[in-house]
Amino acid sequence: MDSVMQRRDFLEFLAAAGAATLLPVPAEAARKAFVPGAGKLPGFTPVAVPAPTAPTFGELTRFEVKDALVVPREYRYEVVVAWGDRVFADPADHFGYNNDFTAFLPLSADDSEGLLWVNHEYVSEKPWLDTYNSVIGKPLPGEAVLRTQAGSLDDEQKRALAKAVLYEQGGSIVHLRRDPSGRYQVVKGSKYNRRVSGIEGLDKPERLLDADGPAAAVLAAGKDGLGKRIVGTFANCSGGVTPWGTVLSCEENFQSQVPDAVDSRGVPVAAKVGFDPASFGDFAGAILGLAPNKYGWVVEIDPRRPEAVPVKRTALGRFRHENVAVRAVEGKPLACYMGDDRTGGHTWKFVSRQPYRTAAGAANRTLLAEGTLYVARYRPDGTGEWVPLVLATPVDPADPAYAAGGRVLLPNRPAGGPVAVDTPEQVAAFKERYKTLGDLYESEGAVLIDAFLAANAVGGTPTARPEDLEIHPTDGSVFVAYTSGAASPEGGPDERIFVTAFKTEDKRDKPPHGAIYRLFEEANDPAALRFRWKTFVSSGEIAAGGAGFAFPDNLCFDSQANLWICSDIGNQNQPVPNRTNARASATSGLFGSNTLWFMATDGAKAGAALPFATGPVECELTGPTFTSDGRTLFLAVQHPGEGGGWRKNGATRPETEYELLSADGKRTFVQTRSLPSGSNFPSPDGGPPKPCVVAIRRR
Ligand code: FEO
Ligand code: CA
Ligand code: CA
Repeated sequence: MDSVMQRRDFLEFLAAAGAATLLPVPAEAARKAFVPGAGKLPGFTPVAVPAPTAPTFGELTRFEVKDALVVPREYRYEVVVAWGDRVFADPADHFGYNNDFTAFLPLSADDSEGLLWVNHEYVSEKPWLDTYNSVIGKPLPGEAVLRTQAGSLDDEQKRALAKAVLYEQGGSIVHLRRDPSGRYQVVKGSKYNRRVSGIEGLDKPERLLDADGPAAAVLAAGKDGLGKRIVGTFANCSGGVTPWGTVLSCEENFQSQVPDAVDSRGVPVAAKVGFDPASFGDFAGAILGLAPNKYGWVVEIDPRRPEAVPVKRTALGRFRHENVAVRAVEGKPLACYMGDDRTGGHTWKFVSRQPYRTAAGAANRTLLAEGTLYVARYRPDGTGEWVPLVLATPVDPADPAYAAGGRVLLPNRPAGGPVAVDTPEQVAAFKERYKTLGDLYESEGAVLIDAFLAANAVGGTPTARPEDLEIHPTDGSVFVAYTSGAASPEGGPDERIFVTAFKTEDKRDKPPHGAIYRLFEEANDPAALRFRWKTFVSSGEIAAGGAGFAFPDNLCFDSQANLWICSDIGNQNQPVPNRTNARASATSGLFGSNTLWFMATDGAKAGAALPFATGPVECELTGPTFTSDGRTLFLAVQHPGEGGGWRKNGATRPETEYELLSADGKRTFVQTRSLPSGSNFPSPDGGPPKPCVVAIRRR
């Protein structure tokens, strides 16, 4: 049987406890009530969003963007923990910035006590600088220079700033207890409360992280003198939970901190990285001299065992890891589904060498040390195959003719790093020169370290930026949030595969707002080498055939197999005064603030999206996690005020206009929005904006 963590049977809970619950309604009741225009479901009243949605199809000519987390009126939320909170054993430690993935690991059978793991991804320079002194209680190193952008930092200041930047990243573990009213609060002084930061071990060698798997030997041969031990983990975006109760935390945009290029040995290519006061959150890892090939991995952490050393599992490859979805079927190899969130990035599967045995419990962790990493090759006919990244795999590059933007990056030899190919002649010459991955890499470890380029070389399909992948709780199919089909100089998605979701004939009215795909393994076998795929739902406006949301990112299932979707809109509420002349990429402002959506995955209304929560100004809602009893939804509010910083005196921006399509697509209408300038969330009385984690529950 499939083991899916944190989603024990909700119906069972209802029958047993008869208590209030977070989930909206049993699916049948929801479907009966799902009437366009009704605007309400028993269970929750959808929150207002600016663009027409199912089932309300509202055409709002005025819309007030709020600097608040808005949840359905039947629900409430409390802030559980926020950036800067000093709740750790070491009083010098504080809760990190830009919380993303969350995982709840129960310590009691009734979920009344548990450990909350939280990822910290990066710092948002404007609000972090605006608020650091107020929240942390000391000035940021070089603060005056960063504020005025005048003068320069000396080397000591740069190192101190780099340490501060990386300290905010990594993860936090907080011990939670639920009081009789249903509210979760941090247990102060708990031995479990600790940080695993981006500079973990830098000054305390006993706290260095470790590595295993095929690339560990390459890492150990590096020049940092640490062997395979590693300073910290950073750029921690999303993650996963293993069936044995550990957390898998994913290092995503590590290239913002250390250069990512390597050569045929997997050894970093020398790169000069300068400090730029205008983007001072970048390259902190390089300033501190950290070994670049030690980042970009999946890290396993055991929150229940404070003494356990976190391990980077190199068998799962090095790329811009968004998350991991673990599928454990008794007696079968373990499968870990993963996405590489970059333009043209790939969809991945790791398959363990040994089978999963439920009875083995925590001993299953060795499964992550040995196995095969596969990249997905999609075929336009709805089939696909998993291509192994091993030295014997033939070189057969992805064809740049099919990639949006007409470009694919391949391993550059002998210099290392990437080389762009744009023509069939270049591809043919590359194939002629290199027959297998063994002609491009000296070891399996090197292949894993350079997984993105190696995957392009063997014909892995460039995709539309995979964010979260999640496994359907009952049928084992894999849902993939492809967040955006836009191309970049690094490549773009294969337009044969991602065409329907992202384009219309005139390539204008259906912008690259993403889609959710669904993969079915052959014979439903986690170790299958072939799969089928289909578009589950397209993003975009209702009138353009979308579900009403844009840029799907984090996903999670509840125990009834309903899908919860967090949007990640980059330019939230950016004006769209005239859509006729708007470039596709400039229409994301139509969709308002980032939103958490609810969606059934089967039945007549499968694929229809209902807005459950909207976030405060310029935030991203991330890391949705249900407690196993389904009563509480943890949700991270990341980077409120990312663009505008700390909102002062209730400041507003000028009212802005948007030309929206009616739901039937037959006409346009103009909507005027009022907009706060900056954020104070979640502070009262005009206080500093802080990334935080909230617990949402039914009133
Ligand atoms: Fe950190 Fe791909 O989101
Ligand atoms: Ca994400
Ligand atoms: Ca994203």
